[in-house]
Amino acid sequence: MRFENFYYKNNLLHCEEIDLVTIAKEFGTPFYVYSKKSMVDRFNDFKKAFEDIPHRIHYAVKSSSNVNIIKLFCSLGAGLDVNSGGELYRALKAGANPKNILFTGVGKTEEEILFALRNDIFLFKIESFQELDLLNSLAKQENKIANIAIRINPNVDPKTHPYITTGLYESKFGIAQELAIDAFKRASALPNLKILGIDMHIGSQITDIDAFRESVVIMNELISQLRQIGIEIEHFDVGGGLGVQYNDEPVPDVFDYANAIKDELKKSNCKIIFEPGRYLTADAGALVTKTLFNKSNRDKNFLIVDAAVNDLMRPALYGAYHEILPVLIDNREKIVYDIVGPACETGDFFAKDRLFQKTYQGELIAIMSAGSYGFCMSSNYNSRRRVAEIMVDGNKYFLIRKRETYDDLIRNEEIVNELFEN
Ligand code: LLP
Repeated sequence: MRFENFYYKNNLLHCEEIDLVTIAKEFGTPFYVYSKKSMVDRFNDFKKAFEDIPHRIHYAVKSSSNVNIIKLFCSLGAGLDVNSGGELYRALKAGANPKNILFTGVGKTEEEILFALRNDIFLFKIESFQELDLLNSLAKQENKIANIAIRINPNVDPKTHPYITTGLYESKFGIAQELAIDAFKRASALPNLKILGIDMHIGSQITDIDAFRESVVIMNELISQLRQIGIEIEHFDVGGGLGVQYNDEPVPDVFDYANAIKDELKKSNCKIIFEPGRYLTADAGALVTKTLFNKSNRDKNFLIVDAAVNDLMRPALYGAYHEILPVLIDNREKIVYDIVGPACETGDFFAKDRLFQKTYQGELIAIMSAGSYGFCMSSNYNSRRRVAEIMVDGNKYFLIRKRETYDDLIRNEEIVNELFEN
């Protein structure tokens, strides 16, 4: 069920047992708040849905990358999927075992590859022939054998937003299916690489589970072709991508997803790796923001809040819909609002033409399903300080990231007097 750990008690929106006004009083607004229970429950559901096949869940760190969130998933037994040197650094700081870390990414730099090699991560996912060669030579230089999987692009349309479609030939990701055999042959000839697996990730926010099934069938065919030529594939990484409900659209849950693909996965005779992000974290988080002003132009009522596009980019970037809830709910009239932020961009909106409880200056609202691709995509645009993050655990709550200060904004800048000397 959608955000089951956010609910009303005495007319106040709570996260688990804490009302959001209490958090706002202590830490100010805006802030991201996460329910630990929600993440734990979603992880356990995922595990349960696939309990009868050998598998491993690698949490996709990019979806929500606070070190406490990473550590939580590690403590539940997850491995990690990282997409940059920075995510690897976070994972190591969170205490993750490098042997449980996969390194994804279409454009890894030498510096990132060396960082990962020197930390003996489990595996590199390779996305091009040149990357095979580069990894092989860096592994040789470091006197190591690097485990690899090759990411294949199965050219299946997942029918999601074009910006998060990754398994079609027009996207930059993976090696085209027709070149797969050549890529594996090339890899098997490189002495400092060891092939362990095959990988796909066809996109994100996928609610059409047939696309997953279709891709698995294509990959199974490839796995058997590889075995026929003597290339053993131990694991099959099916990526992430399972969608969540943002509005009232029908969405499959992880058990539907499992039912749709499990039989095909079994046929692969591989250990299965999953890389979920959004399914585990989206519904666990909300962005809580305060109304600064109300105003009406001739055609519109605006609710101007203190969070902005830099804090949550999804509406501006993808036209994404996010449910918005009043923190104090009662029987007031509803009116149609555009809910917007203070940034100097017309794209700075959280909702357009939304029927919403009449809201007064100073009142709080919560932008829901913001636990994934929320804080981690935020920026300092307009020199806005990035917001605080709070994790709720039952009747306790913890600041897991402080709100930035003005000093933080210019920490890496220095006035270079020489520039102004004449
Ligand atoms: N594995 C790989 C290789 C990925 O590229 C991704 C996400 C995942 C796993 C996790 O996918 P998930 O289970 O979260 O769908 N910023 C966009 C989403 C970008 C997804 C990028 N890749 C958004 O806000 O919708």
